[in-house]
Amino acid sequence: MNEMTKVALAQREYSAAAKAFLGRRPQLFIDNQWVDPETDASIAVIDPSSGKEVARIADASNNDVDRAVAAARRAFDDGRWSGLPPLARERALHKLADLIEQNAELFAELEAIDNGKPVTMARHVDVVNAVNMLHYQAGWASKMAGEWIEPSGAPGGAFHAYVRREPVGVAALIVPWNFPLLMAVNKIAPALAVGCTCVLKPAEQTSVTALKLAELIAEAGFPAGAVNVITGNGHTAGDRMVKHPDVDKVAFTGSTEIGKVINRAATDTMKRVTLELGGKSPVVVLPDVDVKEAAPGAAGAIFFNSGQVCIAGSRLYAHRSIFDQVLEGFAEAASFWAPRPSLDPEGHMGAMTSDEQYQKVMSYIEDGKKAGASVAIGGDSPASEGGYFINPTVLVDVKPDMRVVREEIFGPVVVAQRYDDLDEVAKDANDTAFGLGAAVWTKDVSAMHRLAAKIKSGTVWGNCHAMIDPAIPFGGYKQSGLGREQGRQGVEAFTELKSVIIKL
Ligand code: NAI
Ligand code: MG
Repeated sequence: MNEMTKVALAQREYSAAAKAFLGRRPQLFIDNQWVDPETDASIAVIDPSSGKEVARIADASNNDVDRAVAAARRAFDDGRWSGLPPLARERALHKLADLIEQNAELFAELEAIDNGKPVTMARHVDVVNAVNMLHYQAGWASKMAGEWIEPSGAPGGAFHAYVRREPVGVAALIVPWNFPLLMAVNKIAPALAVGCTCVLKPAEQTSVTALKLAELIAEAGFPAGAVNVITGNGHTAGDRMVKHPDVDKVAFTGSTEIGKVINRAATDTMKRVTLELGGKSPVVVLPDVDVKEAAPGAAGAIFFNSGQVCIAGSRLYAHRSIFDQVLEGFAEAASFWAPRPSLDPEGHMGAMTSDEQYQKVMSYIEDGKKAGASVAIGGDSPASEGGYFINPTVLVDVKPDMRVVREEIFGPVVVAQRYDDLDEVAKDANDTAFGLGAAVWTKDVSAMHRLAAKIKSGTVWGNCHAMIDPAIPFGGYKQSGLGREQGRQGVEAFTELKSVIIKL
């Protein structure tokens, strides 16, 4: 145990604004109104840095979900949103971005309290990216276009044929707890840009910033029903959304397990589905690198957001000749990433978001040890006053068939392995059910591109990690998902094509 782990970590005081927001009555946001849920059922909001309950949110019933879907349906069918001039939709999205920016400090604090992530990171990663996403997607409102096509088998000029690109309808948006505000915005922004209306359900563990977002919806000028925000459990409210006959599209980010459940459930009514799921992303470090750059980079790939990232670089493959140096770099990085209570402005890594996730990660570490892995760094928790903290952890002596190598841990735990040649490491990198992200660290341009082509994943980074941009498609190969978000493809996923063929 290092010095850091002996310090008892305690959460700081909340601001008056945060306390006031957390003190609100549990309500749902439907038709631009705050409404009481049908029943008194509620869910605790826990601050992961203290383990204490700090608020309660509504646990929406089936009737509550139906109300929200009905509101979105009405708003879609009467064209009050989809029928607006595209520039009016664009303006509302820009306005929402500006309102988030004006409330940036409060959003960051609420996110830190609710999710456990460091407040400074919440401010500069989550909030900044949410604002950027809205500005980027806003532009698509006026840029979406169909096309004119000349029929191939008819005499020229005999037909006028064109393809309209229309909003798909009511979108059910279900998001996880690792980047609550950002994920919510990532889903509502493209949906709204193209004219869909939506029902958003944040994760039951982290719904606070989505409720704050709802507060800004009417102010930004969205008509009633365009965006409805309901809080509730996945297996009840989420399930109802996914099976609802008036929902046309489901966009989900979360576990591969629930992604499969949702895909099956959505089949009955043939909803359009996009799924952004789990990963076990490889990070390959070639022998030519400057270890002083590559090791902290690879460490950040796994310890950022306490490893609660779908694209976390959770499998490290370092060339045998530099493996020990890379591990030394990880040991240094581990003190930078030492967990701190989320409202400590100096913190780089916070607590695990829930007790459940804390227990899950600790049991993976135990499972790895039982299977023969050794703990090179971390593997334990710092003393704290009830917070869900886990120290940055590196497991070595791992074998390809161990659960710690094959399954998504979703914590600050990396399995580190040596490799000898490029073909071998490409095979190892692909030896997984997932395919979300991968990173290659090298100065060898040819090796970089050869590996980029060989690795089966939706994104490959070179000499960086988790560089995600609203303009660049994002999604998974294999069991990491279905479809792409962001970029043109992500917006198009909220549209339907209609061919119109007229005999002249
Ligand atoms: P989850 O997939 O159960 O939850 C994600 C969202 O889906 C939440 O909003 C939840 O309410 C909703 N949901 C759950 N069951 C549903 C259902 N039957 N129908 C409709 N919606 C449903 O993830 P969970 O249980 O919170 O975490 C379990 C594991 O999933 C984590 O340990 C991690 O490995 C992985 N995960 C991956 C994420 C990613 O970004 N790819 C995000 C969160 C979790
Ligand atoms: Mg679950």
